[in-house]
Amino acid sequence: MSSSVNVANENGVAIVIIDNPPVNALSFHVRKPLYEALAALRDDPGAKAIVIACAGRTFVAGADITEFGKPVEQPELRAIIALLETVPKPTVAAIHGTALGGGLELALGCHFRVADRGAKLGLPEVKLGLLPGGGGTVRLPRLVGAAKALGMIVSGTPISAGEAKAAGLVDAVVDSDLLAEAIRFAGEMADRGGPFVPVRDRNNRLAETDLSAFDAQAAELAKKARGLDAPRACAEAVRNAITLPFDEALAAERQLFLKLVSGDQSRAQRHLFFAEREAAKIPGKDLQKRTVSRVGIIGAGTMGGGIAMAFANGGLQVTLLETSDEALRRGLATIEKNYIVSVSRGSLTEEAKRQRLGLFKGSTDYTDLADCDLIVEAVFEDMAVKKEVFGKLGAIAKPGAILATNTSYLDVDEIAASTSRPQDLLGMHFFSPANVMKLLEIVRAEKTAPEVLATVTDLARRIGKVAVVVGVCHGFVGNRMLSARGSENEFLLLEGATPGEVDKAFTDFGWPMGPFQMGDLAGLDIGWRNRKARGQTAVIADTLCEQGHFGQKTGRGWYRYEAGAREPVADPEVEALIRAKAAERGIARREIGAEEIIERTLYPLVNEGAKILEEGVAGRASDIDVVWVNGYGFPIGKGGPMFWAGLAGAGNIVERLEHWHRQTGRAIFEPAAMLRRFAETGSWESAGGAR
Ligand code: 3HC
Ligand code: NAI
Repeated sequence: MSSSVNVANENGVAIVIIDNPPVNALSFHVRKPLYEALAALRDDPGAKAIVIACAGRTFVAGADITEFGKPVEQPELRAIIALLETVPKPTVAAIHGTALGGGLELALGCHFRVADRGAKLGLPEVKLGLLPGGGGTVRLPRLVGAAKALGMIVSGTPISAGEAKAAGLVDAVVDSDLLAEAIRFAGEMADRGGPFVPVRDRNNRLAETDLSAFDAQAAELAKKARGLDAPRACAEAVRNAITLPFDEALAAERQLFLKLVSGDQSRAQRHLFFAEREAAKIPGKDLQKRTVSRVGIIGAGTMGGGIAMAFANGGLQVTLLETSDEALRRGLATIEKNYIVSVSRGSLTEEAKRQRLGLFKGSTDYTDLADCDLIVEAVFEDMAVKKEVFGKLGAIAKPGAILATNTSYLDVDEIAASTSRPQDLLGMHFFSPANVMKLLEIVRAEKTAPEVLATVTDLARRIGKVAVVVGVCHGFVGNRMLSARGSENEFLLLEGATPGEVDKAFTDFGWPMGPFQMGDLAGLDIGWRNRKARGQTAVIADTLCEQGHFGQKTGRGWYRYEAGAREPVADPEVEALIRAKAAERGIARREIGAEEIIERTLYPLVNEGAKILEEGVAGRASDIDVVWVNGYGFPIGKGGPMFWAGLAGAGNIVERLEHWHRQTGRAIFEPAAMLRRFAETGSWESAGGAR
């Protein structure tokens, strides 16, 4: 027997153990021996029942994603499940860790499922731009009902063993010794005698379905899909399970799967899956890490409060420091209010809220930071203030404490030079709201010690962040590229577009909102203040700000907002202002199409990404994609700007950039050498963009 599938026998119960680290994915070298083992055991009189279990940290976590897009090697998972369903004796899946995707589908091929209390079960294929392709859409509804199955398959979110038991997905939940319990369960079933009905033949739950309620639920979910094909295909497949005979629904699921798996959206989402994991791989990641259990946060404003919550949510103790009792009280009160809202929404229990609040300690005295393992500064964006803070920390922080700045734009090397221990300092650039947003840019300064970087990268994962290591430059990867994306915004308006037209080009592309809606949400005063500090101007935005129109918070910005509403309404006065400014400059306005809007915003975005790669500020093109998808809402179905550049055709991007460069003379359009090489070679790695 192969080492990735091993068979044993205990008291007449055959035990099939899958052993394919790290997550027991169903690669060809598992499927083949698994099929052979099950075929042999089906006809083996010495086996009265079969238990399928896994070695290592988890039950099967799905198909092997690396095999997608390559020729399929037989037997496929579907054949294994079909074989399982012909077994006349009881078959039992013993589930620990995560039974996901093809893993759960394999378990659905068994008559019974016994799960460890800590196990999670789900069909997350939708997150890879797919639907369950091993019969999950037709079998799961037969166990848990169509409505529950639809929710699980379209969201892709796994459920706990307890919830799975209540829903009818698992037959027993055990607190310890899963394998022994599963063997006992299988033996009992065998002794009790059959017939054992495969899931495919269990139709009772499906017969209860209220089809019009199902369609309403599916329509609601489709609205949230925003241009993604997979959620809609998932809903269609589950509907087929209700309305078609089993084999027809199964065949239809297959067709939908094949279409998705060969499409660009799934390729993009699979790229992101590996890109996020790749981003965590940094030189020195295996070094001995420093211990971090208490974190100090300086500044309890918008960011400091959110960062403090992010750490408390990850179970770390937090000391929050402010300049006055009043500011501290305000900061702590906001944190408490946020937790209360979470409780009222049902996303946090009262007990968890109490526990988390118990992790906070407030102070106005720097010496209270002396026991912190990590200190994150989130004070005003002002170099002098930051230097003063880090100057003090040099004297107070304990030896080996890690010092971090949350600056958005400032030079982290210059900040590091203000401490006596630059090797301990780096940037931790969180995104607002910091307790919600997944992205963390970790800024490696010139003197940052490798184990400091490795410690913070690990810590980011502990608190549920997706971390990307970046280098020092103005705005790092994300905000620097954001400036490039927005640099044509006002020109587009002056030349003829409206804010609504620009935003629509963005939402049609798949962004959750366009740049003008985003500006109104964030507050136009922030950019205004920044511009003033840097001696820059923006003809239209500055005028809006001078009129006190800061966006949603003042009810007016690029759009109008009805009292308390977030829905933007076109503002004729803004449009008149744009026309007047264009006239002042002698610009004849013309119609500007969506294609031009994309060329003048997203092509510079890609171009700036290429320059960032060229300079080594980002180590990999895929790191940039991770930043943009997790921090700025770049549509996941397009895989991030650098992946999308390949889809859109890099040659075409270069050509259009050259065109706009000739037209405008603006540097933002000058194609980066790295982008030209990408256009020639078809891969960022070959263009020299990989670490
Ligand atoms: N195929 C191939 N490799 C996989 C994999 C999979 N299904 N799942 C995880 N891996 C790899 C990761 O790339 C990573 O590799 P690396 O160490 O070289 O970077 C390694 O396994 C460990 O993964 P994580 O770092 O993510 O480990 P965690 O412990 O944090 O998480 C997990 C484990 C929850 C299982 C997570 O890896 C996960 O969500 N995996 C994907 C699950 C999934 O999407 N399954 C469905 C696949 S599609 C399918 O089954 C189609 C079917 O319907 C036909
Ligand atoms: P904020 O103005 O909301 O909060 C700053 C807080 O720092 C205030 O409460 C102030 O009292 C406190 N503070 C000032 N000097 C201090 C000192 N010496 N000691 C202790 N506390 C002090 O500002 P915000 O938005 O939280 O920004 C903080 C930092 O985070 C800035 O560097 C900013 O660039 C960065 N940032 C901001 C983002 C945002 O969306 N607001 C996103 C990412 C980073």
